[in-house]
Amino acid sequence: MCGIVGYVGRETAAPILLEGLRRLEYRGYDSAGVAVYNDGGIQVVKTKGRIQALAQQVEERGGLAGTIGLGHTRWATHGAPSDVNSHPHVSANGRIAVVHNGIIENYAEIREFLQSTGVRFASETDTEVVAQLLEYYYRGNLLDAVTKVLHRIQGAYALGILCADCPDRLIAARKDSPLILGFGDGFHVLASDVTAVIEHTREVCYLDDGEIAELTADHCWVYDAYLRPVEKERRHVDWEISAAEKGGYEHFMLKEIMEQPKAVHDTITPRIRDGAVVLDELEFSTSYLKSLEKIYIIACGSSYHVGMAAKYVLEALLRKPVEVALASEFRYCNPIVSERTLALVISQSGETIDTLAALREAKRLGARVLSIVNVVGSTIARESDGVLYTWAGPEIAVATTKAYSTQLAVVDLIGLAFAKTMGTLGDEEYKALLEALERLPQQLEEILTHREQIQYLASIYFNHPSVFFIGRNLDYAVGLEGSLKLKEISYLHSEAYAAGELKHGTISLIEPGTLVVALAGCRPVFEKTMSNVVEVKSRGADVLGLTIAPLESAVGKVVDYTLTVPETHPLLLPSLEVVPMQLFAYYVALMHGCDIDKPRNLAKSVTVE
Ligand code: AGP
Repeated sequence: MCGIVGYVGRETAAPILLEGLRRLEYRGYDSAGVAVYNDGGIQVVKTKGRIQALAQQVEERGGLAGTIGLGHTRWATHGAPSDVNSHPHVSANGRIAVVHNGIIENYAEIREFLQSTGVRFASETDTEVVAQLLEYYYRGNLLDAVTKVLHRIQGAYALGILCADCPDRLIAARKDSPLILGFGDGFHVLASDVTAVIEHTREVCYLDDGEIAELTADHCWVYDAYLRPVEKERRHVDWEISAAEKGGYEHFMLKEIMEQPKAVHDTITPRIRDGAVVLDELEFSTSYLKSLEKIYIIACGSSYHVGMAAKYVLEALLRKPVEVALASEFRYCNPIVSERTLALVISQSGETIDTLAALREAKRLGARVLSIVNVVGSTIARESDGVLYTWAGPEIAVATTKAYSTQLAVVDLIGLAFAKTMGTLGDEEYKALLEALERLPQQLEEILTHREQIQYLASIYFNHPSVFFIGRNLDYAVGLEGSLKLKEISYLHSEAYAAGELKHGTISLIEPGTLVVALAGCRPVFEKTMSNVVEVKSRGADVLGLTIAPLESAVGKVVDYTLTVPETHPLLLPSLEVVPMQLFAYYVALMHGCDIDKPRNLAKSVTVE
């Protein structure tokens, strides 16, 4: 996903832009560039590859003078990664520079039109049409030209604009791609997310769709699409810069795996008072909850896997039908939604375009939306009827871990709170589940102390070309996440399969040496799962078992190696089982020398369809 940084103030802009881009590296990119105004013109340095290469080129030019500029990291959508396709893009006359996150869906027709007027394009990108169209409309009033362009283009955009004719100001605009403004003493910044600017300012605001901002060193104006002034709420960012640094770990991913006990603790503790779950943030009445026909969980990727586990948890606690949908499918499946549907939208970033679009579709169909989000003030959070934040802190590694775990914890809180309201859970059961939830952080710590065992197993199994994750019920839900973790950071093929379904075809793939990770911690289906494990074992599979400590000996009789987690309440099993899966993927990827924090082709938040 692309990253944007902009600065206007009294300091030299280039070093600030480059540092901001470095802090956005985790978002995933394949090229980078900066544009700075100085001495009457705009200087652009941009290159395919890493920010280090960009910084090198800037240095080779003796640095870039100037106190206003834009920076960009590009995750290629239209046009291969290359120097010329990198951002910033400039208009033909070189007087207007643009950086962009998103997709201009009607760029081809605009390009064709501009070419018919004699404009020659330098790149293959959709973004360049914005720069060229600005020049086409510009008659001395930049804001006027910007509004004309924004009314012409279709699609998603977060834009930073710099014009050599008005070199004291930056223009920013957003629709469907996040953009924040930062406020400082004698400067202003813009960025795709807070990580890029937090060392300069903690006072930020979030642009909403259709808004345009005008930033000078001393002033910030925000307008709606018709240039009417808009008052924006400022927010104070309170997490520490260190949270966005590795803190001595080799990778952000390992750091964030290790942070899970604290992240879960920070997420649940403020919401448990006097032996009860208290969700002050929500205002769902008893009659509304009792009237619900369905809970529709909507998400992507790992957040979807949380939804798969949440289905078992919420149906058990609330006795209401729970449907789980991939956001990208929900939008086009003519979903059955009414005023008596609660849409539970799960997203770490709060900016995933498919999930955001599905949220809007669910609202259009009459549902109320409750979201579970990690990034405060993100678009999904702001467009929900109610939001429960996961207090995981910034998650930098592309492969999510602590956000996944805290999302699960929030689901458990929702289940407990709603069950209490709806009277669907007895006091004893409620108390037992709540106490088990409060024990999770310490149990997570316990699992993490044994991570070397998982590293050892990874050294045994890391060379298997394909891995199956099998399980039933909540074990299957965790297997989905274990499989994705392995795929996304080690590039090994794997698939999660409902253990009971194997014999309906896929078992034909099992042969001597096939690696199967068998998740068998779910007591109600334990015997059934173990019979499936025997089936794959008898066909020569290498089996790595994962179960709860009391079942270790039973599993150990069948499988080659057994990993265990402490026993917990059956509904909380995923919160513990997922950690060995995360660590297994991490250590396998480490053995392969993969770029663990920034896996190829992936972005931290997918803000393009
Ligand atoms: C998970 O490790 C991946 N990074 C990816 O599947 C992610 O979960 C998905 O893109 C959804 O992101 P979100 O939670 O920010 O919406």
